[in-house]
Amino acid sequence: MKEKIQILINEEELQKRIKEIALEIKNDFNGEEVVFCSVLKGAVFFTVDLMKNYDGDCSLECVRVSSYEGENSTGKITLKIPLKKENIEGKNIVIVEDIVDTGRTFKYLVEYIKDFNPKCVKTCTLLDKKARRVVQFDADYVGFSIDDLFVIGYGLDYDEKYRNLPYIAIVKND
Ligand code: IMP
Ligand code: MG
Repeated sequence: MKEKIQILINEEELQKRIKEIALEIKNDFNGEEVVFCSVLKGAVFFTVDLMKNYDGDCSLECVRVSSYEGENSTGKITLKIPLKKENIEGKNIVIVEDIVDTGRTFKYLVEYIKDFNPKCVKTCTLLDKKARRVVQFDADYVGFSIDDLFVIGYGLDYDEKYRNLPYIAIVKND
């Protein structure tokens, strides 16, 4: 099966904005070391390009969570790959996500990471679907705000496919 897709944010726009975010983070941390905490799997592509453009001391940690919609729509987050306390405690953490939708994943992760006593926790997302929020959440760094559309590419999947596209696209249902 081959879905019809339409480009929403092209490669050049993505890379330009990622450079700006990397600089913004660098300036905010004022020379202090940063730990980029990438949320697998979706944020892998974004994290790589963000770090390649980050001109400062930094390291990489990864965490994996799954989100489920319960029958009563409460939503449930399950931790699949945890972080190690020694890599978080006393450090400046920037959680890197592909997209904020309901806000549940970020809310869960910020609380989870705060339990490890970091020096500070900031949140960074490539895409933000504000209209879909279920829990109140605003990321510190946002690449692009988008409408309530299902998007794929650059790490984001549709049934585990399309993560390899170098741009963000919409699946057309016609
Ligand atoms: P939240 O907890 O609802 O904010 O969920 C965010 C997660 O849902 C993201 O990390 C993605 O994995 C997934 N997600 C949300 N919207 C999309 C989309 O449009 N395309 C692909 N994945 C999405
Ligand atoms: Mg994700």
